Amino acid sequence: MIYFLNTIVFNPKKYYFCIGFSFGKLRGGKGCNEIWKLFIIKNIGGFIMLKNRSLIDPSDFTREEFREIFDLGHQIIANPEKYSKSCEGKILATLFYEPSTRTRLSFETAMLRLGGQVIGFSEAASSSTAKGESIADTLRTVECYADIAAMRHPKEGAPRLASHYIHMPLINAGDGGHQHPTQTLTDILTIERLRGNVENKTYGFCGDLKFGRTVHSLVKFLSNYEGVRFIFISPEELRVPEYIREEVVRKKGIPFEEVDQMEPYMNQLDFLYMTRVQRERFFNEEDYIRLKDRFILDKEKMSYARPDTYILHPLPRVNEISTEVDDDPRAQYFQQAKNGMYVRMALILKLLGIY
Ligand code: NCD
Repeated sequence: MIYFLNTIVFNPKKYYFCIGFSFGKLRGGKGCNEIWKLFIIKNIGGFIMLKNRSLIDPSDFTREEFREIFDLGHQIIANPEKYSKSCEGKILATLFYEPSTRTRLSFETAMLRLGGQVIGFSEAASSSTAKGESIADTLRTVECYADIAAMRHPKEGAPRLASHYIHMPLINAGDGGHQHPTQTLTDILTIERLRGNVENKTYGFCGDLKFGRTVHSLVKFLSNYEGVRFIFISPEELRVPEYIREEVVRKKGIPFEEVDQMEPYMNQLDFLYMTRVQRERFFNEEDYIRLKDRFILDKEKMSYARPDTYILHPLPRVNEISTEVDDDPRAQYFQQAKNGMYVRMALILKLLGIY
């Protein structure tokens, strides 16, 4: 049994002392490394160490660490050629237990555009899960073949659990109705390209705010920035979950409103983030049918918005944005999907420790 006393760490950047005591029974191996890694990450502010980390939730990385990823994302957009061989010899595994178009394909294209290679599956039925294999065993096996993995799973918490069984970086590509941190990277890179930064802006979120994991991750991320304000537009039944409203938004003192109409708020928004009603998470088809077309953004509603109000959507869209809006220069959702590839290139490079 070994007991451990960590050192006192002085953080010259932020001018504070941080004393880390991590008494613990260290059994060696992974547990031991994890404790050290977490200690170093949490306590030595300003020291960016993304190599070998996993991204499961927006709170896993600091603002400074996210900044590194976005800066690299912007650099890749400016000069993609420069990075075209950066991942030669590296393999990304995409483990998708739920359907996906953009997330999986943008991860795969990101790795291919970095000169790396890709393996994986796009549905649970084509993996040994269908034979009853556990997530832990699948992940341990994949780690024998790949250097980094992206995982989407219908169960909340599955990627977090999986990350405990492996040493390679794991990226949460969406877990049930919970979180989707790389969609948030996509959204933030897009916001920065359109408006320079995320601070001092009013964000409208519309649609299924209860099951829409992209909303949960984006709200969690934005809540760390100054001057943000949220307007949550949804039917009563699809409001943001309690833990987001209370523990994230209210706790941080962010001004917000929960409303069930769109038009009166359109001219207050810097960004309107539309979402589809998440049919697959409903217990009952009748409720889905009743709620699915409650909010539809069309040309008429766009006429209430300011000339600089941008429309984002993680996609796929069903009915919630009329196709007549697509040609409006404020509609940025397809460019947003493209940005997702660039920011995932940056994330892969950072987690592999290449940049
Ligand atoms: C989102 C998702 O999977 O949560 N799509 C995506 O990753 N771009 C949104 C959705 O499915 O509605």
